Amino acid sequence: QARDARDGGPMTAPTPPSSPRVRSGRSSFVVAIDGPAASGKSSTAQWVAERLGFRHVDSGALYRAATAVALERSGESFDEPAVLAGAQQISLQPVQHSFVPVWRGAEMEAMIRAPEVTRQVSRVAQMQGVRAWVNAHVRLAAEGQHVVVDGRDIGTVVFPAADLKVFLVADPWERARRRLIQRLERSPSDSEIAEETERLVQRDARDATQTVQAKDAVLIDTTYLTQEEQVERIVSLVRVLRPGL
Ligand code: DC
Repeated sequence: QARDARDGGPMTAPTPPSSPRVRSGRSSFVVAIDGPAASGKSSTAQWVAERLGFRHVDSGALYRAATAVALERSGESFDEPAVLAGAQQISLQPVQHSFVPVWRGAEMEAMIRAPEVTRQVSRVAQMQGVRAWVNAHVRLAAEGQHVVVDGRDIGTVVFPAADLKVFLVADPWERARRRLIQRLERSPSDSEIAEETERLVQRDARDATQTVQAKDAVLIDTTYLTQEEQVERIVSLVRVLRPGL
């Protein structure tokens, strides 16, 4: 099956953007959602999964989980072997409509959102062994079930033959504003948004190599869309490609 092609494995013929792939009605359906930091990928992917009865896999959560465990075990002095050794203790487990990373029997949500993890995770995401570890977990989670997977390279590297690829973008100022509202639970001032925009643009630069829009991805600019509208567009695209889902 084309979607089992691994990095460096046999190349599959690219599908022209104008011809949606038609696959057997019985196979699992993969929605790949990529885009830069704070473009709303994870929350959109989660909603789409809930609407369609699919499961959501947040690949960024795995990079964060590997980073959080490395920081616990080695502090900031970790190297790639140390990160990989710690990652062996992490599993990805199904919980409701998601797969979540679990370490020492506990879900890691609070741990992986810590500011220290956000500061260090780009460094971990550059490590090729860690990328292979994340990709293997994500592909395994998607075996035999319909999934919505979000990240940076899902439509290009992890599932180059995903049934639907979406690339979400939004103006950096708007991404910063949304992120601050979520974090502060109030309207941020213009100077707060300006500072956050600067941080986001720097993060975009650090993650640029792996944040790639697939040639056959549908681009959705969410700057002027509500979350409901983004979700509705993706759900509609899935239903056009696979009526009955
Ligand atoms: O989306 P996020 O902020 O949770 O991602 C955390 C980090 O992982 C960020 O540095 C980008 C990186 N990442 C990646 O390189 N490839 C992915 N498929 C997902 C995330």
